[in-house]
Amino acid sequence: MARPLKLRIDTAALLHNLATVAEYAPNTPRICCVKANAYGHGGIEVAQVLAAGGAEALAVAGLEEALALRKTGIKLPILALEGPFTAAELQEMAAQQIWTVIHSDQQLAWLQKAHPPQPLDIWLKVDTGMHRLGFAPQRLPNIYRQLTPLPQVARIRLMTHFACASDLANPFTAEQNARFEQATAGLVAERSLANSPAIIGWPQTHADWVRPGLMLYGISPFGQAHPAAARLKPAMQVDSAVIAVRELQAGDAVGYNHRWRATTPARIAVVAAGYGDGYPRNTENGTPALVNGQQAKVVGRVAMDMLTLDVSGIADVAVGSPVELWGTNLSVNDVAAHSGYSPYELLARIPARPERSYYAGTP
Ligand SMILES: Cc1ncc(COP(=O)(O)O)c(C=O)c1O
Repeated sequence: MARPLKLRIDTAALLHNLATVAEYAPNTPRICCVKANAYGHGGIEVAQVLAAGGAEALAVAGLEEALALRKTGIKLPILALEGPFTAAELQEMAAQQIWTVIHSDQQLAWLQKAHPPQPLDIWLKVDTGMHRLGFAPQRLPNIYRQLTPLPQVARIRLMTHFACASDLANPFTAEQNARFEQATAGLVAERSLANSPAIIGWPQTHADWVRPGLMLYGISPFGQAHPAAARLKPAMQVDSAVIAVRELQAGDAVGYNHRWRATTPARIAVVAAGYGDGYPRNTENGTPALVNGQQAKVVGRVAMDMLTLDVSGIADVAVGSPVELWGTNLSVNDVAAHSGYSPYELLARIPARPERSYYAGTP
């Protein structure tokens, strides 16, 4: 019998979420973020599903990720969000028709001197307050005017990125939006600002292109369930099974360093899933998991291949009982909240070991 840990991706949920982006931002093309192995869901498979489902463009961090997608025959525009890391990468981007962000003076200089095989589509990035990548807003009109006549530049588009969009009470998103509008006023170019939380929560920022990431995978980008994100369907299902059951007496402790000790008699289920599968090692005692569909709690330190759950109140737990670690019935947000990770990080750090399998609607 195979190890019971299963990481399954519902391609129907991905397509549902892609369509949901269009409900939030009607008639706005979507640059779908599939970087970091599509947030752990499998970059090539997800890109193929989204491309077949009508996504208008894809986004990755750099050229290597973009080339890996091109090699599988993906024809959609692919945007490299961090832009070129060398002048030579611009040549390759042009040859492979990869869109690139230009966010720094060094990249600007490479572009100005480049003789690519075909003109490049570029996205000029404006730093409206994230203070990570991008040009100061007041420099934008001048840079735009310098680049417009260059034969190596096909089309210029404009973008910025939000720092606080997941906090719907924070006025800084509106402030960034206003700074972007001011910086780009009068420039004839398409614009993009919105990531998942902005697509859902800040409709005034939708502009000409939206850039969904987390919401495509069916996860609320607000760190917890939110009515505005309730239509999303989680695409990743992580299930395993109980492989041993232990009866503990009061005073008995579990696992490495005996991090948890029973204060009353307790029944412990050992589950085949550990940090070698991407389950966070430092998750707290009390992190939820579902056994036989009922909520159990992680107790003791998560090991490489196993974790332990207190199943004292749950009926009929035996070797083979099904365990859901996250998915349709338990959000990855809930596990993230107990582990010191964001849902983004929990998903992106899943290693290759749990083999991903794909299904549409019914596993
Ligand atoms: C520039 C840029 N746009 C869009 C996104 C997508 O963000 P989200 O996953 O919150 O939708 C990211 C993600 O990190 C990003 O870096």
